[in-house]
Order: sequence, then structure tokens, then C-alpha cells
Amino acid sequence: MDQLVIRGGKALSGDIRVSGAKNAALPLMAAALLSEEPLQLTNAPRLVDVRTIAKLLRFMGVEVEGDGTPNIRLCAQNLTRPEAPYDLVKTMRASVLVLGPLAARCGRARVSLPGGCAIGPRPINLHLMGLEKLGATIRLDQGYVEVQAHRLKGARIAFDFQTVTGTENLMMAGVLAEGTTILENAACEPEVEDLGRLLNAMGANVEGAGTATITIHGMPAVGGASHLIIPDRIEAGTFAIAAAITGGDLTIHECQPAHLESVIAKLEEAGVRIHSGATTLRVTGVGRPRAVNLRTHPFPGFATDMQAQMMALMTIAEGRSVITEAVFENRFMHANELLRLGADIAIAGNTAFVQGVPKLWGAPVMATDLRASASLVLAGMAAQGRTVVSRVYHLDRGYEAIERKLTTVGADIERVRA
Ligand code: EPZ
Repeated sequence: MDQLVIRGGKALSGDIRVSGAKNAALPLMAAALLSEEPLQLTNAPRLVDVRTIAKLLRFMGVEVEGDGTPNIRLCAQNLTRPEAPYDLVKTMRASVLVLGPLAARCGRARVSLPGGCAIGPRPINLHLMGLEKLGATIRLDQGYVEVQAHRLKGARIAFDFQTVTGTENLMMAGVLAEGTTILENAACEPEVEDLGRLLNAMGANVEGAGTATITIHGMPAVGGASHLIIPDRIEAGTFAIAAAITGGDLTIHECQPAHLESVIAKLEEAGVRIHSGATTLRVTGVGRPRAVNLRTHPFPGFATDMQAQMMALMTIAEGRSVITEAVFENRFMHANELLRLGADIAIAGNTAFVQGVPKLWGAPVMATDLRASASLVLAGMAAQGRTVVSRVYHLDRGYEAIERKLTTVGADIERVRA
């Protein structure tokens, strides 16, 4: 198993580029199931999760070429098996994104229940509630969800609270439903908006993607399309904190600052200097940051996927910060590992109290989930001495060649086989 060996204390500087968004690429690839015609996706990130969904789609009979490169071609002309087996779904929860398009296209689907993960129980009850509203019958059988529907019928679906993949699943289901589907209290994430753009390019009629009310006028079939995937705002945010935590000066290229407003606002509140361009962010760390409080929230609020990285920054801040995780039940696993680097953190329920310390010290630490691993890499770059991060397979799920990118701007990071 790979580990990352980090020798900290070096200020990062220079230019770094953001890849395509993982959380956009996954639903966009699932959307291929809606059509017999080919989809061409560009700016695709080279990630383990992208290869996993490619494998899942191939299992169903979808032709997939180019996963592992920025250009992916998909064609679901011959869907032979509308099924997502446990062995694939257990490695990536986002596999649930095939449920809506399969139910819409094939009138049936058999998808393994994803189960919980390190950050929370993560049920899919809202996905299933929505499909039932569209007229599907749902049955649970030996850990699988079985969906049956002659043809889905448009309906009004109001989510109790915002769910990203739930919104995406029902957007895709609504595309081929009879009549109009209205999603209320829908997730507004940029990745949802990007999916709406692709569906309309395929000939669907989706209005309001990216807002809390999405209207989908169903149609009998949709075509193919070419689509440029949006940049990864979480990767861009992670690099912004890399500049701040090392007292460095980075220019982040091919990102969309508009997708990071709440992160930028918190970093500026902490005293970090930020200059936004159309597709660039220049981030300059100025000494120790100031402590700031934050609460995670669905977009456009502060992203839960940036919470761990921001906690890493707050461990060396002047003062005490209060971090409330309001989206997931159990997303402070990184805190215990940050303590090993000399941080001062107390957890009470879904709130972390972080007392900033002048310095962190290198130590062996263990990654527990994707964003937790990013926070350990950031803290390791700020720490004096040597930090060894193990279980970096978590990192590879969502960051493309992160050690290579960070090394080009001055970090001392090495991947070693343990
Ligand atoms: C998406 O997960 C992202 N994944 C997550 O990113 C991200 O953390 C999350 O949205 C929130 O922004 C992808 O897009 C592939 P939710 P998703 O449904 O859709 C509860 C990363 O690090 N809920 O918006 O699974 C749920 O348990 C990953 O890249 C239900 O109770 O998240 C959570 O507490 C991690 N029932 C809250 O809602 C449901 O049916 C929000 O979850 C659905 C969700």
C-alpha cells in the first residue's frame, strides 16, 4: 500500500492547474445510460472513482473508452444488464447514480444498496422516495434495490433537505418520464448545474439546474452530446489552503472562483490574500492565519468537502476557531490524526473547537476518507520534520496526481510503497 512521505516547512510558490471535477464526472458518465447515442466528455479527471464507474457501466453493456485520460467516450446503445453489483457499488457509493437513468431507460434496475461509509450512514431514502413519486415500485431484496416501472410519470418531488446525488438521480429519471417533473428544495451545487447542461445538450428539456427548483419536461428519447466537464472546486480549494498553510504564493489555474465564494470569504476572513481572475485564483499566505468559525452547508454555503482542509489551516491559526459539521454525522475522523501532529482540537458532537498552535510537528498519520487525507497532506506540508501519511488510496479516489502537482510548486512529497 502506498504512503506519502512529506518533509514540511517549505512555502509553496508558482502555478498549479486544477483537473476536471470528480463530482461532476460521475453523474455525467451515468447520464450516458439515458441514450443510445455516444457521449464525448472532455476535461475528465484521471481518478480511481472515474475508473470504477467506467467498470460499472461496462458491466451493464456500455462501451467506455478513454477512462484514465481527459477524453472519455461512452455509448449505451446495447444495455444488456441494468444491474449494479455489490462488489462494484461497495467501492464507491456514487454508483447509486445509475439508479435513476436505468429506471427511466430500461423500466427496471437492480442496484446494490451502497451502505454507510466513514463519514456517515448516508441513506438513499430520498432517492427512493423520488422514484416512487415518479411511479416506480421499489423492493429491497438481499441488499439490493429493485426498481420496476413500465414508464416513469412526471411528478412534483419536494426534498426534506438538499441531496446532491438524489437531485442528480431524479433529474436523470425525469428526462425520460412522461410529463413534467418538478424538484423542489433541490441541491444547487455547480456539479448539478453541469449535469443540467449536459442533459440539455443531449436534447432534454431541463430548466433551473443549479437553483432550488428544477423543472424537467420529459421526452421519449434523448441523443448524444459532447461536453466539457467543469473544474474541480474542491481541488482548487485544497490548493488555496496549501498556499495559506505553508505561507506560500500560488496561482491556481483553470478553476472557477465563482464556485468557491464561501471558501474564499473564509480564507480572506482568516487574513489570507486572494486575487480572483476569470479562471485563476492567486492565493498568498501571510504569516499565521487568524482563527475563523464556520458551519458547513449545502452550496452556496461552506462545502463539507472543504471542512477537513480548513480545519488543518485552523490548527496553526492565531486564536480559537469553532467548526460545525452540519451535513454529515461523522466527519471529524481527521481531527484525531491532526492531534498526532501536535494540534489542539476538542470535539463535542458535530462541533470541533480548534485552539491554534504556533507549530505542528511531523509524525506518522493515517487517512480515513478522501478529504481527511487531503487535510493530513496539508498539515504535513506545514509541520516541521517528516510526516508519513498511510492509506493514501483514499486520496487517489479524488485527487489527480496530487503529489506531482504539489512537488512542481515546491512541496517535498514522495510516494513510497509501504
Ligand atoms: C455528494 O454526496 C458528494 N458526492 C459528496 O462528496 C459531498 O460530500 C456531498 O454531496 C455533500 O456536498 C458526489 O457528488 C459523488 P448528499 P451525496 O445526498 O450526494 C443525507 C467527496 O468528498 N441524505 O447531498 O451522497 C446524507 O446522509 C464526497 O467528494 C439522506 O439522509 O450527499 C447527508 O447527511 C464525499 N438521505 C446529507 O443528506 C438521502 O436519500 C447530504 O447528502 C440522501 C442524503
